[in-house]
Amino acid sequence: MGHKLLCLNLVLLLALHPSSSQHSSLPLRAVNLGNWLIIEGWMKPSLFDGIINKDLLDGTQVRLMSTKLQKYLCSENGGGTTVVANRTSASGWETFRLWRVNESSFNFRASNNQFVGLDNQGAGNGLVANSDSPSDLETFQIVRSEDDPTFIRILAPNGLFLQANSENMVTADYEGSGWEDDNPSVFKMTILKDKTIKGEYQITNGYGPDRAPKIMQDHWNTYITEEDFKFMSENGINAVRIPVGWWIAFDPTPPKPFVGGSLEALDNAFTWAQSYGMKVIVDLHAAPGSQNGNPHSATRDGSREWGDSYIPQTLSVIDFLAARYGDSSTLAAIALMNEPLGVNLESLKNYYRAGYDAVRKHSASAYVIMSSPLDKSSKELLSFIAGFEGTVIDVHYYNLFSNSFSKMNAQQNIDFITKQRASDITSLTSANGPLLFVGEWSGDWLARTASKEDHRRFVEVQVEVYSQATFGWAYWAYKCDSDYWSLQWMIRNDFIKL
Ligand SMILES: *[C@@H]1O[C@H](CO)[C@@H](O)[C@H](O)[C@H]1NC(C)=O
Ligand SMILES: *[C@@H]1O[C@H](CO)[C@@H](O)[C@H](O)[C@H]1NC(C)=O
Repeated sequence: MGHKLLCLNLVLLLALHPSSSQHSSLPLRAVNLGNWLIIEGWMKPSLFDGIINKDLLDGTQVRLMSTKLQKYLCSENGGGTTVVANRTSASGWETFRLWRVNESSFNFRASNNQFVGLDNQGAGNGLVANSDSPSDLETFQIVRSEDDPTFIRILAPNGLFLQANSENMVTADYEGSGWEDDNPSVFKMTILKDKTIKGEYQITNGYGPDRAPKIMQDHWNTYITEEDFKFMSENGINAVRIPVGWWIAFDPTPPKPFVGGSLEALDNAFTWAQSYGMKVIVDLHAAPGSQNGNPHSATRDGSREWGDSYIPQTLSVIDFLAARYGDSSTLAAIALMNEPLGVNLESLKNYYRAGYDAVRKHSASAYVIMSSPLDKSSKELLSFIAGFEGTVIDVHYYNLFSNSFSKMNAQQNIDFITKQRASDITSLTSANGPLLFVGEWSGDWLARTASKEDHRRFVEVQVEVYSQATFGWAYWAYKCDSDYWSLQWMIRNDFIKL
């Protein structure tokens, strides 16, 4: 009873609030402006084309085989001790993640996260992997063969090349030259291509401080324009979800390698949305330290470090965004963190509590969007989120990323939406609970031999079912080189009509 009264009061309060007009637009029919203010290389690979050594980006995983010994380099125990050259096959300990210093100089990170460097304890030229943060001693230049760039020589910080003369030890004391197979300073480099990361960190650090600002500015100016908002509004879209990175709060001088200017682009989006009567959801997609290790979290090398020590900085980003846009009637919601994965649940709840307060400090009416971690049930935090007024729980629905979908034909995919997804939506919806948002979904699927009519139906049932979500849905994405991920393409090619 008490709760009902509270709800009634809330409804009255919201009805009286000047910006209550936003409630009439629920449920939202939104689209994600993915790959705009946070780069996801797969959505437009050509953005990376101008990078020198563009296959050697931050986080790229490499294996190095001595051509003389025909053995792989290995950081024994995954790090903490010497680097040897005696492995006939390669897996974790024989894999190194690159940190890019510039187009030719790199740090090599072993599997236990320590960096390879010269041993400054002993003779000074043995190779060890025992540094927690890279310095000059851990910085190596990769020299590639002009005939075949997969053959490399590695110049150590002492000015000499690494060589694998014996299986027990790799040393930085080779002064010769040449690319013969029996040259102990020549290594065959294998890049684990399917592990490559192409995110904001990689593109900005890849182009470097001289070139990245212009590349990024050109991208922001052209990828999404006012014309796009016009197109969206003419085609039944009434909101955008805009992924942003934590560095936007430091604009115009964010920490390296990130570059300034994305804040102005976000300001423009608010102006354009307002012109066309649309709403904006600001989504903190990349939290400091990375909350999921995925490229779209702007991770440097796939590590997920977000946790208690990052909470104050993450909150200051939310506070910054809420202060800047909290007064705008165009702001529909702020999403506190996209797709946390493998994070400590108590830390996440503490952050959500404080993040909620940070938004409320600047806006009484903006919704606050939270989600359960990806590695947990989507209901995990449902009752926690229900404890706050004006909250939304966010779920992402793709018929992808799991083996079960690869065996489904078109009808089975469609049935999965009308049965499983529909019942998931019902089970996440209750009168006293938060609103529900299907914050990401797409028209892509694995039923590749299906007809266009089947495909159209697949998209249509998703719109029908996800429209049952009380806060609405957002397609991923507006623009993408892969057609089925581009709402613009899907609309123009008659796959979707709203
Ligand atoms: C790259 O960095 C290394 C190490 O700091 C430096 O010696 C080298 O001159 C730099 N190279 C370029 C092309 O900037
Ligand atoms: C590789 O060399 C190290 C150092 O000598 C040794 O401890 C290790 O057992 C060797 N491993 C193999 C597979 O030969």
